[in-house]
Amino acid sequence: MSRAEAVPDLRSEPAFPAAGIADRTTPLIRNCWYVAARSAELGDAPLGVAVAGVPVALFRTRDGRAAAVHDRCAHRSFPLSRGRVEGDRLVCGYHGIAYGADGLAACIPADDRPAARAAMRVRAFPLVERPPFLWLWPGDPHQADEALVPGHPWLSDSGWAFATGCTDIEANYLGLHENLLDTTHFSFLHAGNVGTPAYATAPIDLEVTGDRVRQVRVLEGDVLPALYDRPMDLVGKPVTRTTDSRFVSPGWHEAHAEVIDPAPAPGRPVRYATKILHAITPTAQDRTRYWWAIARDYRVDEPDVTEMMRVAIVEAFEEDRLALEWIREVQDRDGLGPVPERSVKPDRGGLAMRQIVARLAAREREAG
Ligand code: FES
Ligand SMILES: [Fe+2]
Repeated sequence: MSRAEAVPDLRSEPAFPAAGIADRTTPLIRNCWYVAARSAELGDAPLGVAVAGVPVALFRTRDGRAAAVHDRCAHRSFPLSRGRVEGDRLVCGYHGIAYGADGLAACIPADDRPAARAAMRVRAFPLVERPPFLWLWPGDPHQADEALVPGHPWLSDSGWAFATGCTDIEANYLGLHENLLDTTHFSFLHAGNVGTPAYATAPIDLEVTGDRVRQVRVLEGDVLPALYDRPMDLVGKPVTRTTDSRFVSPGWHEAHAEVIDPAPAPGRPVRYATKILHAITPTAQDRTRYWWAIARDYRVDEPDVTEMMRVAIVEAFEEDRLALEWIREVQDRDGLGPVPERSVKPDRGGLAMRQIVARLAAREREAG
């Protein structure tokens, strides 16, 4: 399924930084749905977050609907997330101006002139609540198509169980996207939890379609790593393991993992499906909030298995966090330019993703 015309050619693509390849200095993409917070994080009090570098105050109206406005009062710049919610309004904690979910001032306690009210407004952002996530569009609201909010049915379907968590990474979000497309690092960085030695050399089938990247790897006759072997009760057994990694948008990556047991014991399944979901929100240029979930369709009624997988994946994601932060420190020390990074064959997916992001950034720059 390779689509060579859209895939970077390593013979002519020796290194980056390079024109047309996004790096940590590329402006953050705003026309995209990002997870702003977990649904459960937003209760009666407002919540301050940052999405693609935009400060946002989230709050719930009386009927529980989530709303998002710029986290800066139009009067004297007080952070609205430090105010309070009254009924359907977010009330500034400094002089009490009350804003509706549309960002318009509904009440100015110190000035009852309609003209003063009409001039007082903050920006409201498109927001979609799709539990367990609140999705926000920080860019042009006219382009905020709800149909583009990534689906994650495995987090609400009773046939699945999942573990979830959140990590803050002090590094640019593109490094994390690249990490997720670069499955060869499993064998080295994650040797104790999600990687096996054979994983580094398994062939990769790459497909680039529009603004999406998909990579499929199939490993035949290998044993499973710690993340899967006990949860699937297949310790030491040769199986077929498929990983289908997808860059869906700057805010979302999903990995569809499947294990086939070619000789199942009586009463045991042939196929085990796992979905590893990654909501990636650049809060600032070099800071990323990373929500993840790992959902499975086996042993769904066993909380011990959920916990076992949570612990293994937390260990792996902590290894990723450290790697990305160490890389950022080296780049901070040496700069991006003087020591260009060379690429190897399995980097094609990551480079394709960087090309897509560079294109999206150029489009946003042209649109002003
Ligand atoms: S700063 Fe918000 S009401 Fe004055
Ligand atoms: Fe990793």
